[in-house]
Amino acid sequence: MNHLAKIKQCGGRIAALTAYDFLTAQLLDRAGIDMILVGDSLANVVLGYPTTLPVTMEEMLHHAKAVARGVARALTVADMPFLSYQTGLDDAVRNAGRFLKEGGVEAVKLEGAGPILAVVERLVQLGIPVLGHLGYTPQSVHRFGSNIVQAKTAARAGELLNDAMALEGAGAFAVVLECVPAEVARLITERLTVPTIGIGAGPFCDGQILVLHDAKKPTPGQTLSGVGRNDRRRRPIVHPRSPRGCVSSRRALLRNARGRIARAGRGRAKRRAEGPLIRSTSLAREKNGMLQLARLLAMTAWPSESPPSLGGTAECINTRKPAARKSCAVRLSK
Ligand code: KIV
Repeated sequence: MNHLAKIKQCGGRIAALTAYDFLTAQLLDRAGIDMILVGDSLANVVLGYPTTLPVTMEEMLHHAKAVARGVARALTVADMPFLSYQTGLDDAVRNAGRFLKEGGVEAVKLEGAGPILAVVERLVQLGIPVLGHLGYTPQSVHRFGSNIVQAKTAARAGELLNDAMALEGAGAFAVVLECVPAEVARLITERLTVPTIGIGAGPFCDGQILVLHDAKKPTPGQTLSGVGRNDRRRRPIVHPRSPRGCVSSRRALLRNARGRIARAGRGRAKRRAEGPLIRSTSLAREKNGMLQLARLLAMTAWPSESPPSLGGTAECINTRKPAARKSCAVRLSK
């Protein structure tokens, strides 16, 4: 938690990803990911449920334990599933406590504000760190319907800002902002002392989080060029719950990274000398996302060596149309 706060204070960027198993957790930890979330997206991307609502405490705990066993360095957070904290303070404390005591993670994530603020306050008072989650909150899927992007009016943006400030006041150590306009996320990021972590919320948050399956689950020695048409036919690369706005940018991210890494494979010696270069023609606005991907790629590019240096190592080395922000590239330094 302190580490995340320091990243914000230093103007750095937090890289966060979800994981649901031991091996992935180990790989992400070694790649330098700052925070690993055992998301209730487990429901969608691992267990095949249509929404996050059906996933249970037992299912979440099973995966949280596996992830916690694989992590030595990153902050581990588990999502509290639907109805594990909305039914009263005692339930919330018992279930959150199970994540720390049995699951072995260090913090829990809760969706929403309003009535949830009392829960956050109580958990924090009892020494259970809480990550907030605002904007599009998938456990409220039936309330949102097809309205994916939240806080599109000034009034709603103001409410979101108030909720974020209230979460900070209740003791949340950071707040995830999902699918809100970039400018709203920027405003909230500027107003909060604790970090914001965006998903489909533009480039101005203090960090970015991505559902790992949106970026194709890596295995050791595999490069992202291995993500082929067949994989795509079997299962969409994009997390089924991902809102449209986020999908296109993630697809573009992968498409460009795949092409680049495939080409880089032909010049292995050059790549080893210089580090992997990842270009995007459409994602200049998503430099944080590119930093995450760069970190993921780092472990496939240097599978048998120590990972590249971490915090803030991605550098924009080529912005062809800075005004239009149409093209940029990042390079990792070793
Ligand atoms: O469940 C999840 O994976 C999440 C995020 C990606 C924020 O809540």
